[in-house]
Amino acid sequence: MKRNDYLCEQMIVEEGNEELIESLFHSIFHSGYDGIYVADKLGNGIMVNQAYSRITGVASHELLGMNMRDIVKAGLISESVTLKVFEAKTSITIPQTVKGKEVIATGNPIFDESGEISYVITNVRDISELSRLKIELQQSRKLTQKYIDEIEDLRKKELVQAHTNGIVAQSKEIIKVFHLAKKVAKVDSTVLVLGESGVGKEVIVTYLHQFSDRSKNPFIKVNCAAIPKDLLESELFGYEKGAFTGADSRGKPGFFEQANGGTLFLDEIGDMPLEVQVKLLRVLQEMEVTRIGGRKSIKISVRVVSATNKNLEELVKKGDFREDLYYRLNIVPIKIPALRERKSDILPLAYFFLNKMNKKYHFNKRFHSEVFYYLEEYKWPGNIRELENSIERLVVTTEDDEITIDDLPRNILMDANPKKVERGTLKEILDNIERKIIKECMEEYKTTRSTAKELGISQSALVKKMQRLGM
Ligand SMILES: Nc1ncnc2c1ncn2[C@@H]1O[C@H](COP(=O)(O)OP(=O)(O)OP(=O)(O)O)[C@@H](O)[C@H]1O
Ligand SMILES: [Mg+2]
Repeated sequence: MKRNDYLCEQMIVEEGNEELIESLFHSIFHSGYDGIYVADKLGNGIMVNQAYSRITGVASHELLGMNMRDIVKAGLISESVTLKVFEAKTSITIPQTVKGKEVIATGNPIFDESGEISYVITNVRDISELSRLKIELQQSRKLTQKYIDEIEDLRKKELVQAHTNGIVAQSKEIIKVFHLAKKVAKVDSTVLVLGESGVGKEVIVTYLHQFSDRSKNPFIKVNCAAIPKDLLESELFGYEKGAFTGADSRGKPGFFEQANGGTLFLDEIGDMPLEVQVKLLRVLQEMEVTRIGGRKSIKISVRVVSATNKNLEELVKKGDFREDLYYRLNIVPIKIPALRERKSDILPLAYFFLNKMNKKYHFNKRFHSEVFYYLEEYKWPGNIRELENSIERLVVTTEDDEITIDDLPRNILMDANPKKVERGTLKEILDNIERKIIKECMEEYKTTRSTAKELGISQSALVKKMQRLGM
C-alpha cells in the first residue's frame, strides 16, 4: 500500500520528511481506540491494528494474508463488511458479531484511477460496552419511571387524604368556597361565614384556620347562642378575681386571651346580646382586652371569624344587631350555598357518610341505584347535617344490606316529582337521565356549544341528541 493513500488531505508533506510521516502513521494506526482492518482488492488482509485484535479477539496472524471469504467460511466473523463493500462499491456499516462480541463495522472503499476498488478499510467499534450502557440506561429509566409513578401515587393518596379528611367537595360552587377560604386564610381580615343550618360553616372555619399561618396556635370556638347571656361577656373577655359573686377566686382569662396568636371562632354571632356586641366591637378595633373588674388592657393578636345562619342585615334593620359591628365582622363574607343549590355534592356526600357509618357500625350496606334520584331531588332543609343523620339512620335501621327506596322516609320521597320516576324500559330510563343532565347543563352553560364542550361531545352530536330526546 502506498503511504500517500493514507495521508489525509490537510497534511503537509515536506520533501525528506517521509520517514517521520511513516513512523507517525504507524503510531496513529496502532494507538487508535477503534479497530482498523485493511483488505486489498482481492479481499486479503494486509493491515490490522492492535485495537482490532483487542476488540474482536481475533489475532492479527489469523487475518493478515488471509482472504476474507475464507475467514467468513471458517466462521471467525459472522458477516464481512469488506465483502459487502466490494459488492456495493460504497461505504457500508453493519452490526457484526465477532467471537460473541457485538461490534459495529464500517467499511470504506478506496478507488484507483480507473474507479476500481483497490483497498477496503474497515473500522470496528466495540459496542458491547455501549449496549451494556444502553441496557443500564433503560433499566435506570424504568426505575426512575417506577419512582415517579410511586411519588405520583403517594401524591394522589395525600390529595385524597386531604380530601377525605372529613371534607367532600365535588360541586363547582363548594370548590369555589373552599378556594376562597384558603385564599383569605393567609390574611388576618375578619371573615363572616354565612349559610343555612348544617351547610358546613364550622367545617369552612376550621379549614380556614388550618390553612392560616396561625394553624399551630389555638383555635377557640365559642357558641354565642349556647352560653347564657350574662356569662358570655366574662367568658369572652375574662375577669379578675372578685369581679363578681360566683366568679373563680383566682380570676380567669377569656376566650380572646386563650385564642391569642390563633383564631377565635364566634359561632351563631347573630345571637350575641347587644351589650356584648359593644364590647366586642371595641376589642376588635383596638385588639386589646380588659378583663371584667380589671384595669390594665392586654394586647392580643387574634383572628376573628364569625358565622351565623341568621340574616344579619335583617337583624341590623330590626335593631337587634349593631350596624358598626356588622360591617366590622363582614370584611370578607363567605356564603356557603345550601345543599339543594349544589346537587352534585349530594351523592358524593351520601357515599362518604355511607362508608363512614359502615365503618362505625361494622356494616356493609349499599344503596340501590333508585335511591339516588330521591336523594338528589329532596330539598335537604337541614343540609349536610340532615343528610348525614339520614344516612346514619338508614344504615342502622334497614334490615338488608341494600338500602332501597322502600327504606326512605316519607319526607324524602315526597319531594321527588313522581312523574319523573315512572319506571320504563332501560332505554326510557337512560333517555330520562340524559334529558336531565342536558337540561341541567343547558341551564348552567346557556349555549349548546358550551354544554357540548362540558359534556365532552361535539355540538352537532348534542343537537342531534336533544332532537331525539324531544328537547
Ligand atoms: N364539605 C363537607 N364534607 C363532609 N362533611 C361535611 C361537609 N360540610 C359539612 N359537613 C358535615 O356536616 C355537618 C354539619 O356541618 P357544620 O357543623 O360545619 O355546619 P354548620 O353550618 O356549622 O351548621 P349549624 O348552622 O347548625 O351550626 C357536620 O357533621 C360536618 O362534618
Ligand atoms: Mg355551626
